[in-house]
Amino acid sequence: MSSPIVTAHTLSKIIDRTHLVDNISFSVEQGEFCGILGPNGAGKTTTLRMLIGHTPPTQGYLSVLNWRIPGQERAMRQQLGVVSQTDNLDPDFTVTENLLNYGRYFGLTHSIMTQRIPELLAFAALEKKAHALIPTLSGGMQRRLSLARALINQPKLLILDEPTTGLDPQARQLIWQRLRQLKNAGMTLILTTHYMEEAERLCDRLIIMDNGRILDEGAPRALIQQHIEPQVIEIHGNNAEKWHLQQRKNLGLRYEHVGDTWFYYGYQVESILSQLQAFPELYFLHRPANLEDVFVKLTGRELREN
Ligand SMILES: Nc1ncnc2c1ncn2[C@@H]1O[C@H](COP(=O)(O)OP(=O)(O)O)[C@@H](O)[C@H]1O
Ligand SMILES: [Mg+2]
Repeated sequence: MSSPIVTAHTLSKIIDRTHLVDNISFSVEQGEFCGILGPNGAGKTTTLRMLIGHTPPTQGYLSVLNWRIPGQERAMRQQLGVVSQTDNLDPDFTVTENLLNYGRYFGLTHSIMTQRIPELLAFAALEKKAHALIPTLSGGMQRRLSLARALINQPKLLILDEPTTGLDPQARQLIWQRLRQLKNAGMTLILTTHYMEEAERLCDRLIIMDNGRILDEGAPRALIQQHIEPQVIEIHGNNAEKWHLQQRKNLGLRYEHVGDTWFYYGYQVESILSQLQAFPELYFLHRPANLEDVFVKLTGRELREN
Protein backbone atom coordinates (compact mmCIF):
# COMPACT_ATOMS: atom_id res chain seq x y z
CA MET A 1 0.00 0.00 0.00
CA SER A 2 1.31 3.47 -0.85
CA SER A 3 2.00 5.88 1.99
CA PRO A 4 -0.58 8.61 2.71
CA ILE A 5 -0.42 11.89 0.80
CA VAL A 6 -0.82 13.79 4.06
CA THR A 7 0.10 12.58 7.53
CA ALA A 8 -0.58 14.91 10.46
CA HIS A 9 0.16 13.68 13.95
CA THR A 10 -0.68 15.60 17.14
CA LEU A 11 -0.51 18.84 15.19
CA SER A 12 -1.06 22.15 16.98
CA LYS A 13 -0.83 25.82 16.16
CA ILE A 14 -0.67 28.02 19.22
CA ILE A 15 -0.49 31.81 19.02
CA ASP A 16 -0.40 33.87 22.23
CA ARG A 17 -1.44 30.77 24.18
CA THR A 18 -4.54 30.36 21.98
CA HIS A 19 -4.83 26.95 20.36
CA LEU A 20 -5.96 27.76 16.81
CA VAL A 21 -5.38 24.10 15.99
CA ASP A 22 -5.31 21.81 18.97
CA ASN A 23 -3.61 18.44 18.77
CA ILE A 24 -5.16 17.02 15.61
CA SER A 25 -4.14 13.81 13.86
CA PHE A 26 -5.36 12.67 10.46
CA SER A 27 -4.17 11.32 7.16
CA VAL A 28 -5.30 11.62 3.58
CA GLU A 29 -4.79 8.74 1.18
CA GLN A 30 -3.82 8.83 -2.47
CA GLY A 31 -6.85 9.58 -4.66
CA GLU A 32 -9.08 10.54 -1.76
CA PHE A 33 -11.36 13.60 -1.72
CA CYS A 34 -11.19 14.77 1.87
CA GLY A 35 -13.33 17.56 3.30
CA ILE A 36 -12.64 19.61 6.40
CA LEU A 37 -15.95 20.89 7.69
CA GLY A 38 -16.32 23.38 10.51
CA PRO A 39 -17.95 26.67 11.55
CA ASN A 40 -16.17 30.00 11.22
CA GLY A 41 -13.08 30.11 13.40
CA ALA A 42 -12.86 26.31 13.69
CA GLY A 43 -9.24 26.27 12.54
CA LYS A 44 -9.72 25.05 8.95
CA THR A 45 -7.64 27.71 7.25
CA THR A 46 -4.92 27.46 9.88
CA THR A 47 -4.75 23.71 9.27
CA LEU A 48 -4.44 24.21 5.52
CA ARG A 49 -1.84 26.93 5.97
CA MET A 50 0.30 24.50 7.92
CA LEU A 51 -0.17 21.85 5.23
CA ILE A 52 0.99 24.15 2.45
CA GLY A 53 3.95 25.40 4.46
CA HIS A 54 2.70 28.95 5.01
CA THR A 55 2.85 28.78 8.79
CA PRO A 56 4.87 26.30 10.84
CA PRO A 57 3.12 24.02 13.33
CA THR A 58 3.86 24.83 16.96
CA GLN A 59 3.85 21.12 17.76
CA GLY A 60 3.44 17.81 16.01
CA TYR A 61 4.53 15.91 12.95
CA LEU A 62 3.46 16.78 9.41
CA SER A 63 4.35 15.26 6.08
CA VAL A 64 2.78 16.23 2.74
CA LEU A 65 3.48 14.30 -0.46
CA ASN A 66 6.20 12.50 1.48
CA TRP A 67 8.00 15.76 2.27
CA ARG A 68 8.54 16.88 5.85
CA ILE A 69 6.82 20.17 6.66
CA PRO A 70 8.36 22.49 7.71
CA GLY A 71 11.69 21.99 6.05
CA GLN A 72 10.91 20.59 2.63
CA GLU A 73 8.05 22.86 1.55
CA ARG A 74 9.85 24.13 -1.55
CA ALA A 75 10.09 20.64 -3.01
CA MET A 76 6.56 19.80 -1.85
CA ARG A 77 5.06 22.86 -3.56
CA GLN A 78 6.21 21.64 -6.97
CA GLN A 79 3.54 18.93 -6.70
CA LEU A 80 0.93 20.99 -4.91
CA GLY A 81 -1.94 23.15 -6.17
CA VAL A 82 -3.63 25.69 -3.88
CA VAL A 83 -6.88 27.63 -4.23
CA SER A 84 -6.92 30.02 -1.30
CA GLN A 85 -9.96 31.42 0.49
CA THR A 86 -9.72 34.79 -1.27
CA ASP A 87 -8.82 35.06 -4.94
CA ASN A 88 -5.41 36.67 -5.19
CA LEU A 89 -5.30 37.12 -8.93
CA ASP A 90 -3.25 39.99 -10.31
CA PRO A 91 -5.76 42.69 -11.34
CA ASP A 92 -3.33 44.43 -13.70
CA PHE A 93 -2.99 41.41 -15.97
CA THR A 94 -5.30 39.47 -18.25
CA VAL A 95 -6.54 35.95 -17.62
CA THR A 96 -3.84 34.43 -19.82
CA GLU A 97 -1.12 36.61 -18.33
CA ASN A 98 -2.12 35.52 -14.83
CA LEU A 99 -1.65 31.90 -15.88
CA LEU A 100 1.67 32.67 -17.57
CA ASN A 101 3.02 34.51 -14.53
CA TYR A 102 2.05 31.67 -12.25
CA GLY A 103 3.58 29.07 -14.56
CA ARG A 104 6.87 30.96 -14.43
CA TYR A 105 7.03 30.44 -10.66
CA PHE A 106 7.19 26.74 -11.40
CA GLY A 107 9.82 27.25 -14.10
CA LEU A 108 7.52 25.98 -16.85
CA THR A 109 8.83 26.58 -20.37
CA HIS A 110 6.95 28.77 -22.81
CA SER A 111 6.18 25.80 -25.06
CA ILE A 112 4.67 23.81 -22.16
CA MET A 113 2.56 26.81 -21.19
CA THR A 114 1.30 27.51 -24.70
CA GLN A 115 0.02 23.95 -24.75
CA ARG A 116 -1.35 23.88 -21.20
CA ILE A 117 -3.03 27.28 -20.98
CA PRO A 118 -5.72 26.65 -23.65
CA GLU A 119 -6.53 23.34 -21.92
CA LEU A 120 -6.87 25.09 -18.59
CA LEU A 121 -9.03 27.84 -20.07
CA ALA A 122 -11.33 25.18 -21.54
CA PHE A 123 -11.42 23.34 -18.22
CA ALA A 124 -12.39 26.56 -16.45
CA ALA A 125 -14.91 27.52 -19.20
CA LEU A 126 -12.97 30.75 -19.72
CA GLU A 127 -11.95 30.41 -23.39
CA LYS A 128 -13.81 33.58 -24.30
CA LYS A 129 -12.13 35.49 -21.48
CA ALA A 130 -8.52 34.69 -22.39
CA HIS A 131 -7.66 38.35 -22.88
CA ALA A 132 -10.00 39.90 -20.32
CA LEU A 133 -8.68 41.85 -17.36
CA ILE A 134 -9.40 40.37 -13.93
CA PRO A 135 -11.76 43.14 -12.65
CA THR A 136 -14.09 42.49 -15.60
CA LEU A 137 -14.65 38.86 -14.51
CA SER A 138 -17.56 37.75 -12.32
CA GLY A 139 -16.87 36.16 -8.93
CA GLY A 140 -17.50 32.71 -10.37
CA MET A 141 -15.08 33.33 -13.25
CA GLN A 142 -12.38 34.55 -10.88
CA ARG A 143 -12.78 31.47 -8.75
CA ARG A 144 -12.55 29.25 -11.84
CA LEU A 145 -9.42 31.07 -12.91
CA SER A 146 -7.93 30.52 -9.45
CA LEU A 147 -8.69 26.83 -9.89
CA ALA A 148 -7.14 26.74 -13.38
CA ARG A 149 -4.10 28.57 -12.07
CA ALA A 150 -3.66 26.05 -9.25
CA LEU A 151 -3.51 23.28 -11.86
CA ILE A 152 -0.80 24.80 -14.03
CA ASN A 153 1.93 22.60 -12.52
CA GLN A 154 -0.23 19.46 -12.82
CA PRO A 155 -0.25 18.92 -9.06
CA LYS A 156 -0.73 15.55 -7.36
CA LEU A 157 -2.53 17.20 -4.46
CA LEU A 158 -5.01 20.07 -4.72
CA ILE A 159 -5.94 22.02 -1.60
CA LEU A 160 -8.94 24.36 -1.72
CA ASP A 161 -10.06 26.71 1.05
CA GLU A 162 -13.81 27.37 0.77
CA PRO A 163 -13.75 27.31 -3.03
CA THR A 164 -17.44 28.09 -3.51
CA THR A 165 -18.17 30.55 -0.70
CA GLY A 166 -20.15 33.49 -2.07
CA LEU A 167 -20.88 31.92 -5.45
CA ASP A 168 -24.35 31.55 -6.90
CA PRO A 169 -25.73 28.00 -7.41
CA GLN A 170 -24.81 27.79 -11.11
CA ALA A 171 -21.25 28.91 -10.50
CA ARG A 172 -20.97 26.52 -7.57
CA GLN A 173 -22.21 23.57 -9.58
CA LEU A 174 -19.66 24.19 -12.30
CA ILE A 175 -16.87 24.15 -9.70
CA TRP A 176 -18.31 20.91 -8.25
CA GLN A 177 -18.28 19.27 -11.69
CA ARG A 178 -14.69 20.25 -12.25
CA LEU A 179 -13.56 19.02 -8.85
CA ARG A 180 -15.24 15.68 -9.52
CA GLN A 181 -13.47 15.51 -12.87
CA LEU A 182 -10.13 15.99 -11.12
CA LYS A 183 -10.98 13.34 -8.55
CA ASN A 184 -11.96 10.91 -11.34
CA ALA A 185 -8.64 11.58 -13.02
CA GLY A 186 -6.91 10.35 -9.86
CA MET A 187 -6.02 13.58 -8.11
CA THR A 188 -6.03 13.81 -4.31
CA LEU A 189 -8.12 16.73 -3.06
CA ILE A 190 -8.57 18.44 0.29
CA LEU A 191 -11.26 21.08 0.62
CA THR A 192 -12.64 23.13 3.46
CA THR A 193 -16.24 24.21 3.44
CA HIS A 194 -19.12 25.16 5.66
CA TYR A 195 -21.63 24.09 3.01
CA MET A 196 -23.02 20.76 4.09
CA GLU A 197 -24.39 19.82 0.69
CA GLU A 198 -21.01 20.51 -0.86
CA ALA A 199 -19.28 18.27 1.67
CA GLU A 200 -21.90 15.56 1.26
CA ARG A 201 -21.81 15.60 -2.54
CA LEU A 202 -18.09 15.81 -3.13
CA CYS A 203 -16.16 14.23 -0.33
CA ASP A 204 -15.27 10.60 0.31
CA ARG A 205 -14.44 11.41 3.88
CA LEU A 206 -15.05 14.34 6.18
CA ILE A 207 -13.14 15.68 9.13
CA ILE A 208 -15.46 17.77 11.31
CA MET A 209 -13.57 20.44 13.25
CA ASP A 210 -14.48 23.00 15.88
CA ASN A 211 -12.40 25.05 18.29
CA GLY A 212 -9.23 23.70 16.71
CA ARG A 213 -10.13 20.07 17.41
CA ILE A 214 -11.41 17.17 15.35
CA LEU A 215 -14.86 16.17 16.60
CA ASP A 216 -15.34 13.18 14.31
CA GLU A 217 -14.41 11.89 10.91
CA GLY A 218 -15.86 9.46 8.41
CA ALA A 219 -17.73 9.07 5.14
CA PRO A 220 -20.69 11.51 4.96
CA ARG A 221 -23.29 8.75 4.97
CA ALA A 222 -21.61 6.87 7.79
CA LEU A 223 -21.50 10.02 9.91
CA ILE A 224 -25.22 10.59 9.36
CA GLN A 225 -26.07 6.98 10.26
CA GLN A 226 -23.86 7.04 13.30
CA HIS A 227 -25.21 10.27 14.80
CA ILE A 228 -28.79 10.85 13.64
CA GLU A 229 -32.01 8.86 13.31
CA PRO A 230 -32.87 8.49 9.60
CA GLN A 231 -36.10 10.55 9.53
CA VAL A 232 -36.53 14.15 10.57
CA ILE A 233 -39.69 16.21 10.91
CA GLU A 234 -39.43 19.94 11.46
CA ILE A 235 -42.53 21.60 12.88
CA HIS A 236 -43.33 25.27 13.31
CA GLY A 237 -46.27 27.66 13.03
CA ASN A 238 -49.01 28.92 15.34
CA ASN A 239 -49.66 26.59 18.25
CA ALA A 240 -46.56 24.52 17.52
CA GLU A 241 -45.52 24.81 21.15
CA LYS A 242 -48.94 23.79 22.41
CA TRP A 243 -48.99 20.85 20.04
CA HIS A 244 -45.52 19.80 21.12
CA LEU A 245 -46.40 19.94 24.81
CA GLN A 246 -49.46 17.78 24.21
CA GLN A 247 -47.86 15.24 21.93
CA ARG A 248 -44.23 14.73 22.88
CA LYS A 249 -44.94 11.95 25.42
CA ASN A 250 -47.22 10.03 23.06
CA LEU A 251 -44.69 10.19 20.26
CA GLY A 252 -41.70 8.96 22.23
CA LEU A 253 -39.27 10.45 19.71
CA ARG A 254 -36.07 12.37 20.33
CA TYR A 255 -36.62 16.06 19.71
CA GLU A 256 -34.85 19.41 19.82
CA HIS A 257 -36.31 22.88 20.11
CA VAL A 258 -34.52 25.64 18.22
CA GLY A 259 -36.04 29.11 17.82
CA ASP A 260 -39.62 28.57 16.62
CA THR A 261 -39.01 25.05 15.32
CA TRP A 262 -39.27 21.62 16.85
CA PHE A 263 -37.09 18.95 15.27
CA TYR A 264 -38.29 15.38 15.75
CA TYR A 265 -35.95 12.50 14.93
CA GLY A 266 -36.95 8.87 14.50
CA TYR A 267 -36.86 5.56 12.69
CA GLN A 268 -40.64 5.35 12.27
CA VAL A 269 -42.45 8.66 11.84
CA GLU A 270 -45.70 7.58 10.14
CA SER A 271 -47.75 8.11 13.29
CA ILE A 272 -46.58 11.69 13.73
CA LEU A 273 -47.17 12.42 10.03
CA SER A 274 -50.73 11.16 10.06
CA GLN A 275 -51.34 12.96 13.33
CA LEU A 276 -50.03 16.24 11.89
CA GLN A 277 -52.65 16.15 9.11
CA ALA A 278 -55.21 17.08 11.74
CA PHE A 279 -53.43 20.34 12.55
CA PRO A 280 -53.55 22.52 9.42
CA GLU A 281 -52.19 25.55 11.28
CA LEU A 282 -48.85 23.78 11.75
CA TYR A 283 -46.18 23.86 9.08
CA PHE A 284 -44.04 20.79 8.81
CA LEU A 285 -41.24 19.40 6.72
CA HIS A 286 -40.47 15.70 6.56
CA ARG A 287 -37.00 14.94 5.29
CA PRO A 288 -34.18 12.42 5.58
CA ALA A 289 -31.45 13.15 8.14
CA ASN A 290 -28.57 15.02 6.60
CA LEU A 291 -25.10 16.19 7.35
CA GLU A 292 -26.34 19.47 8.73
CA ASP A 293 -28.08 17.56 11.53
CA VAL A 294 -24.76 15.87 12.34
CA PHE A 295 -22.85 19.11 12.15
CA VAL A 296 -25.22 20.96 14.42
CA LYS A 297 -25.35 18.07 16.87
CA LEU A 298 -21.55 18.02 17.10
CA THR A 299 -20.87 21.76 17.02
CA GLY A 300 -23.94 23.14 18.79
CA ARG A 301 -26.52 25.62 17.66
CA GLU A 302 -25.14 28.91 18.86
CA LEU A 303 -24.55 31.54 16.21
CA ARG A 304 -20.96 32.08 15.03
CA GLU A 305 -20.02 35.53 13.92
CA ASN A 306 -18.21 35.82 10.60
N1 LIG B 1 -2.53 34.90 12.92
C1 LIG B 1 -3.47 34.74 13.85
N2 LIG B 1 -3.29 35.18 15.10
C2 LIG B 1 -4.22 34.99 16.04
N3 LIG B 1 -5.40 34.37 15.83
C3 LIG B 1 -5.63 33.92 14.60
C4 LIG B 1 -4.71 34.06 13.53
N4 LIG B 1 -5.23 33.50 12.42
C5 LIG B 1 -6.43 33.02 12.77
N5 LIG B 1 -6.69 33.29 14.07
C6 LIG B 1 -7.89 32.87 14.83
O1 LIG B 1 -7.81 31.46 14.89
C7 LIG B 1 -9.09 30.85 14.80
C8 LIG B 1 -9.12 29.88 13.65
O2 LIG B 1 -9.08 30.60 12.44
P1 LIG B 1 -9.18 29.93 11.01
O3 LIG B 1 -8.17 28.84 10.92
O4 LIG B 1 -9.07 31.01 10.01
O5 LIG B 1 -10.64 29.30 11.05
P2 LIG B 1 -11.61 28.87 9.87
O6 LIG B 1 -10.83 28.85 8.59
O7 LIG B 1 -12.11 27.53 10.28
O8 LIG B 1 -12.72 29.89 9.84
C9 LIG B 1 -10.07 32.00 14.66
O9 LIG B 1 -10.60 32.25 15.94
C10 LIG B 1 -9.21 33.15 14.18
O10 LIG B 1 -9.74 34.38 14.59
MG1 LIG C 1 -11.12 29.82 6.80
